[in-house]
Amino acid sequence: MTTAGTTTGESLPPALTAENLVVEYPAGRGRKVHAVSGVGLEVAAGETLGILGESGCGKSTVGRSLIQLPPPDSGTVRLGEVTLTGLAPAELRRARARMQIIMQDPVSALNPRRKVKDLVWEGLSIWGSGDDPRDKDTRIDAALRDVGLDPATVRDRRPHELSGGQCQRVCVARALLLDPEVLICDEPVSSLDVSVQAQILNLLETATRRRGLSMVFIAHDVSVVKNISDRVMVMYLGKTCEVLPSDGMQDEAVHPYTRLLLASLPEAQRGPVAVADPAVSDGPAADLPSPLDPPSGCRFRTRCPLATGLCSEAEPPLRDIRPGHRVACHHV
Ligand SMILES: Nc1ncnc2c1ncn2[C@@H]1O[C@H](COP(=O)(O)OP(=O)(O)OP(=O)(O)O)[C@@H](O)[C@H]1O
Ligand SMILES: [Mg+2]
Repeated sequence: MTTAGTTTGESLPPALTAENLVVEYPAGRGRKVHAVSGVGLEVAAGETLGILGESGCGKSTVGRSLIQLPPPDSGTVRLGEVTLTGLAPAELRRARARMQIIMQDPVSALNPRRKVKDLVWEGLSIWGSGDDPRDKDTRIDAALRDVGLDPATVRDRRPHELSGGQCQRVCVARALLLDPEVLICDEPVSSLDVSVQAQILNLLETATRRRGLSMVFIAHDVSVVKNISDRVMVMYLGKTCEVLPSDGMQDEAVHPYTRLLLASLPEAQRGPVAVADPAVSDGPAADLPSPLDPPSGCRFRTRCPLATGLCSEAEPPLRDIRPGHRVACHHV
């Protein structure tokens, strides 16, 4: 965790701001998946914001909207002073180099035909100062060493000659070589062995701390998100339920859904359970809400022990209950 990132994200100008993001996917016959419905966030310089929630709640969609791949249907994303939403394509590509994304599956993120040294240099040759190749080899080697890879061993290998963990290290090296201000990590360790997971998490934590990088860290594993993040944003069915400091989260969380996630920690570690996903036909989702037709009012009300009539009539606003802690619930 960082010291620069306060629990409130207020002391430094935000490195990344998103307001009211909305993403809807067409689902045929005039229907649409309400994947993300009015989500906002703020990440201070040097801060790590975790995004937590069950499978299908919209975490990756938020991550992709932040980096504008694709842009949200509506809402605003600002990277420092630059508003990304609405930029012309060429300007957007340039600005986007300041924000890099690390994906869940490192092997498919890498072109299988290219050697590690070219993969690491790829981004810089397109967006950065890679047009001056004089120090190319030195910089590639330093980037590989930075992520714990031995340049002499790996620089001429192709992705299939590396382990999953090594591939993820190459992805991290490639992202860091562009000297980004913000790193978006979407389940960066979910496809890796437990022992390798810890190594990659350490690597990300050290790299962000050393460089003062801001990070958005998406995962469904409560303990992973809690450990790496300064603050945690909990999502349910395309909405934000609660945002709170990760320190003391176990005791301080008040939203019934966050409490449920924390209470089911061992289950959460075994893997996500379902929010009904229209893309999955054989899930046990009959009585779970669908993002095709989310519940009125509070989207969590159909599973909530505190639900009353008010919850179906009015959507609870996300409100501050103390510095750095926001919650969207009528009853807490
Ligand atoms: N390209 C797409 N077209 C249609 N629906 C999509 C598309 N991408 C995502 N969805 C749907 O949008 C919803 C949110 O998906 P998203 O991938 O953002 O969830 P997630 O929280 O990242 O889930 P997971 O933890 O499984 O990665 C889901 O119902 C999903 O089926
Ligand atoms: Mg996802």
